[in-house]
Amino acid sequence: MDLIVGNWKMNLGGRDSLQLIEGILERLKKPIPGEAVICPPATALFMAGDRVKETPLQLGCQNVFYENKGAYTGEISPEFAREAGSRYAIIGHSERRQFFSEGPEINRKIEAVLNLGMTPILCVGESLEQRDGGNAWSVVKDQLKQGLQGISTEKLSGLAIAYEPVWAIGTGKTASPEDAREMASRIIEELHHLQGLRVLYGGSVKPGNISDFMSLAEINGALVGGASLKADSFAKLIYWEK
Ligand code: 13P
Repeated sequence: MDLIVGNWKMNLGGRDSLQLIEGILERLKKPIPGEAVICPPATALFMAGDRVKETPLQLGCQNVFYENKGAYTGEISPEFAREAGSRYAIIGHSERRQFFSEGPEINRKIEAVLNLGMTPILCVGESLEQRDGGNAWSVVKDQLKQGLQGISTEKLSGLAIAYEPVWAIGTGKTASPEDAREMASRIIEELHHLQGLRVLYGGSVKPGNISDFMSLAEINGALVGGASLKADSFAKLIYWEK
């Protein structure tokens, strides 16, 4: 089933998050064609989770730590994120890799999320320099390996991978559908042993271009930043049409 995920990043506080949720819900009168997930900042997670219960919207978190509890000041517990209602967790977003030097711990985060029955959305993607150097696939392949190594095939069933080329995030530039298709099919080939794998595309997705990606057989969803922050555009993304 298609998976449309709104990553609100560090943009909305509790009140603004609730307001955006109301706006989206008002626009979801017809049954939604796939799954729609919102990922508010951690500080709004509980309130948001309460509000979306028994609505067509599902909740996800943008990041978690790999321990559920303990003396880890300032970290986000995966267990508490789930308690708030999160069913999905974005892991290894390029902004986490870039600003918080995430790398090896991504693997433990994926495992922690799976142990709680949540679905990880593992983000992978190359920089422009890496693409121009002809290394896009080797970078993505290494990120997949680092993120998933040692985790059993059964546990990983239902996993989502978001292919987000770093140079397409927040820039208004997107990968060409051909490049997105090529990367998605390599990811699928690499992870062919996983049941129920979904590959999402992310990077400047908006109502005007979502069908370029979603109509590709290899792509089953979108991870959206900027265009998920307006009720109108997020609703349009949820009801995207070929
Ligand atoms: P934009 O849609 O704003 O380019 O952000 C993409 C992204 O990083 C989603 O995780």
